Amino acid sequence: MPDDVGTKKLRSTRWFGDADRDGFVHRSWMRNQGLPPHLFDGRPVIGICNTWSELTPCNAHFRRIAEFVKRGVYEMGGFPVEFPVMSLGETLMRPTTMLFRNLVSMDVEESIRANPIDGVVLLTGCDKTTPALMMGAASCDLPTLVVSGGPMLNGKFHGTDIGSGTNVWSMSEDVRAGKMSLADFMDAEACMSRSAGHCMTMGTASTMASMVEALGMGLPSNAAIPAVDSRRYALAHMAGRRIVEMVREDLRMSTVLTRRAFENAIRVNGAIGGSTNAVVHLLALAGRVGIELELDDWDRLGHDIPLLVNLMPSGQFLMEDFYYAGGLPAVIRELGDLLHRDALTVNGRTIGENTAEAPCYNRAVIAALETPFKPAAGIAVLRGNLCPDGAVLKPSAATPKLMKHRGRAVVFETIEHFKERVDAPDLAIDETSVMVLKGAGPKGYPGFPEVGNMPIPQKLLKRGVTDLVRISDARMSGTAYGTVVLHISPEAALGGPLALVRDGDMIELDVAARRLHLDVAEAEMAKRRQAWKPPAAAYDRGYAKLYVDHVMQAHRGADLDFLIGKSGAKVARESH
Ligand code: FES
Repeated sequence: MPDDVGTKKLRSTRWFGDADRDGFVHRSWMRNQGLPPHLFDGRPVIGICNTWSELTPCNAHFRRIAEFVKRGVYEMGGFPVEFPVMSLGETLMRPTTMLFRNLVSMDVEESIRANPIDGVVLLTGCDKTTPALMMGAASCDLPTLVVSGGPMLNGKFHGTDIGSGTNVWSMSEDVRAGKMSLADFMDAEACMSRSAGHCMTMGTASTMASMVEALGMGLPSNAAIPAVDSRRYALAHMAGRRIVEMVREDLRMSTVLTRRAFENAIRVNGAIGGSTNAVVHLLALAGRVGIELELDDWDRLGHDIPLLVNLMPSGQFLMEDFYYAGGLPAVIRELGDLLHRDALTVNGRTIGENTAEAPCYNRAVIAALETPFKPAAGIAVLRGNLCPDGAVLKPSAATPKLMKHRGRAVVFETIEHFKERVDAPDLAIDETSVMVLKGAGPKGYPGFPEVGNMPIPQKLLKRGVTDLVRISDARMSGTAYGTVVLHISPEAALGGPLALVRDGDMIELDVAARRLHLDVAEAEMAKRRQAWKPPAAAYDRGYAKLYVDHVMQAHRGADLDFLIGKSGAKVARESH
């Protein structure tokens, strides 16, 4: 079946356009939903890919958003059809949502390709739903527009603002240090999440919503409008209108997702203090559209970008404040010629045109380029004998005095081993130590969980220690902070050098020199390498086995090797 988008005949007319037996089947069953015949007259069919689920609280308002998208689609003479895909709720799913990001991308890709869809609106919110939907849609490459669900309102607790995730980590450490009562901690539960929406810190969800806007895949202001603000619904309405035009213009995802768009996104990520998770997600997305993007591009393009946005976990404010201060358009305008201002966006205008007049209403939240909150805030990519294929660190969330550090390793072989051992009174650890976690990479866990920001041992917390150098092959939550080296590649489960670290080894971190070094003689390393045994397989069937057999390492975006690239929207055979 040819892919007819952009020609006179739309792709969907292959299903709905003929007065024959197959056309009868395709239309008749759809009409059981009360659809009148004129909807099958050759107008653009717009899929609304919905990750609504009551098990994904961040996306639980998405049915309402879908209704507003539909209004816009109808207004412009399109035919909207909403369809579900697997939803990934960060807070409930075990062992980790990242195990399923690639599975959802397959669900999205095959759902779009197999159905009579001419253009797609992706409804995304909770962390992995954004990259998963974009990756799947990119492999089909139809006209596509992303509508993010928006962040929750600021948390309010005992007269102060509290942020999703960030204050969970800080308050739970305060409880362990004896600085906060358990009753107060439990009281904060309802105060933190008091409206629909995703995490309202600059965690992974807010970061990825910002990446959507910086890549040109969403309408201006998509990133920050709170989920319950009426303007979020107006944006969804306008997205519905625009996607119909995009189908008529044949403006496909690959036309927007150029190398320049990715370079813009990397620089914006530095300016907003975005999550390290954006690194793996954008590497994977680039792989789907055939853009050569490498881990080192993050450092090369982003290292000198100053932090302009004062949001937790790198700063003080929350997404609601960010929107009222001007949101991402104000940041993009501020970055000036550091961005490719001629990059095309889904509204048909360039990112420069979209933001030329973008105002900033609050310099306490969005700084001017000349007076940033922190200099050089982009993701640092480290190399060295501990991470031959790279590792990352987020300088804006780290402790300056630990950025150059030499200390003794305290090793945890798995996250379970960490939990058993971290608060043992006899654990030989002090503020100069380097905490090392193994077995939390893509294959090793498996699924690449967010456990890299290991909690500080209680005995150190009680002495007022708030940060330690921590290194691992894991990811960390975008809401987390600390001097945390992540995504070490190759991971320990593949026998990477991380697997060979032992208690007491000296480790050197030098972020300025982009170096992570294990100070152990090569002869000793060779002996350890010979003695190393790979861990037993965790799964012998099902999707998890497919994942373990095919997942790539962090520096390649942790996509499945057979999903790289795109197949377009063509379907070779008719349905029979
Ligand atoms: Fe869903 Fe943070 S838990 S965005």
